[in-house]
Amino acid sequence: MIIQTPHTQAIKYSGSKLRLLPHILALTKNVCAGPGSPPVFDGFSGSTRVSQAFAKAGYTVYANDIALYSKIFNTAFLLNTREPKTYQPLIDHLNSMEPVDGWFTENYGGDDLHKVSNNDDGLKKPWQKKNTRKLDAIREEIDALNLDEVTKAVAITSLILALDRVDNTLGHFVSYLSEWSSRSYNDMKLEVPGLWINQNQNVVMNSDVFEALQKLPENIKIAYYDPPYGSNNEKMPPSRVRYASYYHIWTTICLNDKPVLFGKAKRRADSSDTMAGSVFEEFRRGASGKFIAIEAIEKLIRETRADYIILSYSSGGRATADELNDVLNAYGHIIEIRKIDYKRNVMAAMKWTNDWVKETKEKNFEYLFMIEKRG
Ligand SMILES: C[S@@+](CC[C@H](N)C(=O)[O-])C[C@H]1O[C@@H](n2cnc3c(N)ncnc32)[C@H](O)[C@@H]1O
Repeated sequence: MIIQTPHTQAIKYSGSKLRLLPHILALTKNVCAGPGSPPVFDGFSGSTRVSQAFAKAGYTVYANDIALYSKIFNTAFLLNTREPKTYQPLIDHLNSMEPVDGWFTENYGGDDLHKVSNNDDGLKKPWQKKNTRKLDAIREEIDALNLDEVTKAVAITSLILALDRVDNTLGHFVSYLSEWSSRSYNDMKLEVPGLWINQNQNVVMNSDVFEALQKLPENIKIAYYDPPYGSNNEKMPPSRVRYASYYHIWTTICLNDKPVLFGKAKRRADSSDTMAGSVFEEFRRGASGKFIAIEAIEKLIRETRADYIILSYSSGGRATADELNDVLNAYGHIIEIRKIDYKRNVMAAMKWTNDWVKETKEKNFEYLFMIEKRG
């Protein structure tokens, strides 16, 4: 069954499950009708696409991610109870700010010359100066206005979405393009985000997932897990996605804390691999001989108190798939597996069989495992 997918809005995000939303919602609906049913938990909310879709489909959502920008997006989208148009005067006011040269321009603004590296410091930049000058003015004004938590989150979300539309990147901030992208020439303009009036008491969390588990109510129906999965090839650690470093700029815009920066991409010091690694991004094997990331997933499934778990997994290597298969067999009863070819957007339903492990050498597949946890 594929069901109607609500509209969601987000930045470009590596690993976003936008394409999988119909499948995640269909699996959810099979066991949990929607309005009035017990809450669902999105443990690794990221871009917040899945949390938004759950909320718009009528579920009460507990949304969590360790990244601060994810908390800000979730606060704007899941906690808003006002008519979206009531934010228009605020957005108009922010758009009318006089551009200024400030900290963001100094570090992330480049001149409109053909080659980005013609900048004063010889570095490539994620935005043209005309847009970082606006960013400098608007971000200071958001703090000066002393807004309530949700309104401030709406303003910052609007700013980040606007910046995302004029960036000079391939969708992350560990390197920037050497020739300005065509969208970077556009003038940044804030818009009211695609909000709605939430009727349910959603809850937004910003913790390590294991801490978040401790704070959940007893009656969670479904936990959806989409961990980063490090690299599933021991020989390729540099290719892995590190969320804290990929999206360091969004963290800085949320905090407006003018942090110490390092490297050519001018990352925040606390986004370095040694300081900001997640156990789920760990590519090495632990003392037990198992992959550390898989041990973490094992612990996650074991410690989750929910009726069902939906686990996302992307194909790309045999090693983690073999071990993941053992974990899935040990800690739950698999009800359904969906294999989605995300390049072609085609879905195959699979009977529970260990055969999926053999296929994960093929790239470009996403798996959804529906696991019954209790009863
Ligand atoms: C694959 S992304 C999730 C994508 C999300 N489902 C979406 O559709 O946008 C993985 C997320 O896990 C978060 N993360 C990594 N380690 C975490 C941890 N220990 N606890 C909670 N979140 C964590 C990252 O910040 C990242 O946003």
